[in-house]
Amino acid sequence: MKNDKKQLADDNGATRRAVGKRSRLVASTAALSAVGLVAGYGSAAASSGATPHAASVTTITWSASPISTSGPDLRKVLIANFEKAYPNIKVQLISAPTNTDTNESQLETQISGGSSSPDVFMGDVIWPAVFGAHGLAVPLSTKFPKSFFSRFAPGLVAGATYQGKVYAAPFFEDQGFLYYRKDLLRKMNLPVPKTWEELKAESLQLQRAKLVKYGFVWEGADYEGATCDFMEYLTDAGGKVLSSNGKSSALNTPAAVKALTFMRSLVTSGVTPAAITTYQEPQAMNTFDNGQAAFLRNWDYAYSASQSSGSKVIGDVGVAPLPTFQGQSYPGYSNIGGWNLYINPHTKHMSQDLTFINYMTGAAAEHVMATQFSEIPTNESVRVQKSVIAVNPVLATVPHTRLVARPSQTPEYPKVSQAIYQNVNEALAGSESPAKAIANASAGINTALSGGGL
Ligand code: GLC
Repeated sequence: MKNDKKQLADDNGATRRAVGKRSRLVASTAALSAVGLVAGYGSAAASSGATPHAASVTTITWSASPISTSGPDLRKVLIANFEKAYPNIKVQLISAPTNTDTNESQLETQISGGSSSPDVFMGDVIWPAVFGAHGLAVPLSTKFPKSFFSRFAPGLVAGATYQGKVYAAPFFEDQGFLYYRKDLLRKMNLPVPKTWEELKAESLQLQRAKLVKYGFVWEGADYEGATCDFMEYLTDAGGKVLSSNGKSSALNTPAAVKALTFMRSLVTSGVTPAAITTYQEPQAMNTFDNGQAAFLRNWDYAYSASQSSGSKVIGDVGVAPLPTFQGQSYPGYSNIGGWNLYINPHTKHMSQDLTFINYMTGAAAEHVMATQFSEIPTNESVRVQKSVIAVNPVLATVPHTRLVARPSQTPEYPKVSQAIYQNVNEALAGSESPAKAIANASAGINTALSGGGL
């Protein structure tokens, strides 16, 4: 395993050197054979007419939502690098919605309607069961050789697997982090909070001292992101969503009520703005970047976004694992998110799609993401590189986080999550008590798992 990885890292290096030295066509063949792909789908390349001898250029479409919210567009940076390495393939970017739910339903409609575009799509880590169960993604384990998957950090391939087939290639990993204003904490001589109660108390102190408008911003809108945030408080409080066999809700417990009561108390105390009920990642990010909040819960990219031009907090931002509830051991739980690359079953460019995915999860592309955009690379050889960790404070924090995944192994997950975020959102708005919202969410989860609607 170790040797395999080293071999792949060496091969990737060889590929990059080859790009400079030899003709580009030779380089692309070298890259493919590096992971044993030529044997795997050489015939597909021939039948689609994209043989190395044809000078023709094939265009593939790639659907991806914006990854970075400021600075250069990471998607375009990676496409440009790819096209340089593979001049016979052009990639047309289809910009997908930032809201993962909207993104998902658009793709489901398009692909189930038989559309051959997009060829490749960047899809959430919570999608393999849904897309796999409905035939909306190509099982990549039938296209790439086994050795391809050994480049990924442990656990990621299992997360992309549904009923024994790997439906996607992990592209970048997300985890929830606490971002804090180093300058403000220093001014008031406050430590980085280790408990949620401490975070709330520090926020109030900073707000009373008129150093900042809000204490803490996060994601509370009526969408998937609210499920992610709730999962963190829920797990810290000792609760869980599903029973051990995954067949029924285990949500309706005092732990879940404690978690949601605390979230609502952030709003009623003024630590969190009431508008949190409409906040997705970009709104939380903007409030923090504008210097209006002391603390932010967000994903990896938030660090580089907070340090890009336009931000008012450049040089003042620290990153730490999330807090937990008093009496629990630090740190708290971080939800696992992230995005994978999937192939549309109706694609007419299978060999080019595989070449693209091979490149985008290879060392060169992953290095760009990790060093310039503070993403957590999925490629293990990049993830453990000391020089990469040295310039990515988020990656340096990763060994200290404690992770919790969403229960997305069931194709019913979208409805399970909807039952959670709709009710969480109502409790945050004060239109339902936390206890009633948890009871409603739990009932909604059971309906979803029995195959019913909400
Ligand atoms: C991030 C995560 C993704 C999650 C989404 C929720 O994009 O990577 O897994 O579903 O946020 O908003």
